[in-house]
Amino acid sequence: MPRKIAAGNWKMNGLSGALAELSALAEAGAPDGVEVVICPPATLLSRCRSIAGEAVALGGQTCHAAEAGAHTGDVSAQMLVDAGAAFVIVGHSERRADYGETDADISARATAAWGAGLTAIICVGETLEDREAGRTLAVVGTQLAGSVPEGATPRNTVVAYEPVWAIGTGKVATPVEIDEVHKAIRAALSDRFGPTGAEIALLYGGSVKASNAAEIFGIADVDGGLVGGASLKAADFGPIVTALGES
Ligand code: PGA
Repeated sequence: MPRKIAAGNWKMNGLSGALAELSALAEAGAPDGVEVVICPPATLLSRCRSIAGEAVALGGQTCHAAEAGAHTGDVSAQMLVDAGAAFVIVGHSERRADYGETDADISARATAAWGAGLTAIICVGETLEDREAGRTLAVVGTQLAGSVPEGATPRNTVVAYEPVWAIGTGKVATPVEIDEVHKAIRAALSDRFGPTGAEIALLYGGSVKASNAAEIFGIADVDGGLVGGASLKAADFGPIVTALGES
């Protein structure tokens, strides 16, 4: 069985006051069989570590491909580990769009994440233009092939399908749309990596919230969610975690 993961991506949100939200999540704990992951801004990571306890794992939001060196403003995978992370998101569509990250860049970042012992949450997803042109499976297939390095396993890799048009827009892909893409990702990972590839956890992301989480987590090849806006408050994220536990 793939891992079941409820991951929250705080993006560029969260000052010291946000630590209270993490305390509330840590206190609520994780349902049996569910891994709860919060990816706060890097500035909060080590303070998050001291309050997250056993119930909540932490992740970075990106990492550089190099181990260290002259890369002003960047964070290495080892720095994330040092600050208490066990996961890192790579290839989020906002990074692809804002910084022009390519599939090859993302693959290099994932390799660096593995080298430091992190699980890489590798993101793929089509734009609205891609979807309307009927290119969704082709685009996602190309991103997947280029962004997931050789050597992916269920321990070191999680794949997040996040249609760009559904992120932060309140528009959620329909269960049929999610099912189609997740099935295609599962098949591609299994073709490439064999039976263990089929065990890599697949998360859906894009306007997941308490009111739609149960339906999304009920889709056969959805093993969890990557949640942005609704992960910022424990009162919103808690019910999503619970829904995953009940799926
Ligand atoms: P959203 O973001 O839940 O706010 O749509 C998801 C993501 O970008 O990971």
